[in-house]
Amino acid sequence: MQPQPGIFSLGTTEHCFIELDLRPGAAAADLVAALAALVGPGTSAGGLSVVVGFEPGLWGEVAPEAARTNVSPFEVIRGADFEMPATQHDAWFWIAGGRRDVVFDSAVRVMDRAAPVATVATELIGWVYRHDRDLTGFIDGTENPSMLEAEKVAVLPQDGSSVLLYQKWQHLPSWRDLSDHDQELVIGRTKPDSVQLDDDILPEASHVARNVIEEDGEELAIYRRNVGYGSPTDHGTVFVGFCATQHPLAAMLRRMAGADDGIRDALTRYTTPLSGAYYVIPSVDALARFVAD
Ligand code: HEM
Repeated sequence: MQPQPGIFSLGTTEHCFIELDLRPGAAAADLVAALAALVGPGTSAGGLSVVVGFEPGLWGEVAPEAARTNVSPFEVIRGADFEMPATQHDAWFWIAGGRRDVVFDSAVRVMDRAAPVATVATELIGWVYRHDRDLTGFIDGTENPSMLEAEKVAVLPQDGSSVLLYQKWQHLPSWRDLSDHDQELVIGRTKPDSVQLDDDILPEASHVARNVIEEDGEELAIYRRNVGYGSPTDHGTVFVGFCATQHPLAAMLRRMAGADDGIRDALTRYTTPLSGAYYVIPSVDALARFVAD
């Protein structure tokens, strides 16, 4: 079972993310078919990579034999004076490439192809900031699994599928009022070179401390493909996190919100989640069944 290759195609600088809703009365299978044709052999021509995903219930209805029974749609997460909103939609696609015009043309084509059965719910243009930094100015992805390990972390071996957590996080101007030192205490790493702060000074509410979670002696791992979005006045992080199962993603969000222990991730005081959705990212093989010869 081959996972969608776009999950792992690093190095692209231009990104377009679109969430879709099924039109009333339209068949979910037609939406899957419209997007399935994008993935698979020969569809990454022109240096483009494409990843498509579906709301867990919709995928389960259309492909019961390939269904993941243990993935739920996003629900509001309530924490310490803080909430993460749920904005679940029916389908999601991500087109990445080296040129904005090519990514644009491709996204428009996909949108038009899906138009008879689905409407666009959200769209986001992502871009790469200073090679590997997010718009906080910190290197993002340091603790990502290596390319050798990424597939093990992101893909369920039995069926080649992944769970995606997709969130739009807006950065607040107050972030820029902090000194570099105070920003480092919020993230838990140094700003120039992403070295983790020593345990004796690492604040328990720092982003790193909140997201290092051990269960049964093993650290939970996810694979992040975040990029920046936006303009000088309105910008932030497109959080694109893949995992073989939903639990690590959900556990990290609960810790960030302080849902169980009241310790809210310090980063959430300077960034606001504006959306939240989970999608099943089926294998290429599972999608191939929906593509007409
Ligand atoms: C505004 C949104 C976010 C920003 C700007 C952000 C930024 C960062 C940065 C700069 C790091 C340190 C370097 C690294 O290891 O990548 C980091 C680490 C990490 N983040 Fe985030 N992040 C955001 C949201 C999230 C969310 C929503 C999750 C989980 C659902 C998450 C999970 C993690 C994990 C697992 C680590 C690695 C922790 C470690 O092992 O040291 N992040 N993030």
